[in-house]
Amino acid sequence: MAGNLTLTMIKPTAFNKNYTGAILKMINEAGFTIKAMKLTQLTPQQAGTFYAVHKGKPFYDSLVSFMSSGPLVAVLLEKENAVEEFRNFIGATNPEKAEEGTIRKLYGTSLQQNAVHGSDSDENAKVEAEFFFSKLERF
Ligand code: PPS
Repeated sequence: MAGNLTLTMIKPTAFNKNYTGAILKMINEAGFTIKAMKLTQLTPQQAGTFYAVHKGKPFYDSLVSFMSSGPLVAVLLEKENAVEEFRNFIGATNPEKAEEGTIRKLYGTSLQQNAVHGSDSDENAKVEAEFFFSKLERF
């Protein structure tokens, strides 16, 4: 059975451009409920750990550097079938290929600076939720 939690990050560029409010509004209006939220900046080591699954890929070092370059907003979201629903909702990883009206089409500019992250499995959603939030920070 599909899980009901997913983890998103509003990436540094989108945060710096003040898109956070508009993005969170779209997420809420699409029926996702915020269960935990945090504004933080990752160290390169922390970003490396978060994206460890991509270690060895050509974009890994650049992605780690970008994701630790400034503040980001981590948000734990709840909805039925959350991982798949959220990935469909935000659009393709590459903003150029994302459907019109999706967050990545509206607010992303490149494969790396694609406005938001979305967990790719229930298993990773759990790992990513525990990466950012303690039990006391989740509702
Ligand atoms: S993969 O290889 O299919 O698993 O990768 P994908 O799921 O498409 O993307 C995983 C994250 O890596 C980022 N990404 C890139 N960054 C920089 N350059 C290139 N070429 C590139 N390709 C993928 C992408 O933004 C994804 O980040 P998240 O945070 O998961 O959205």
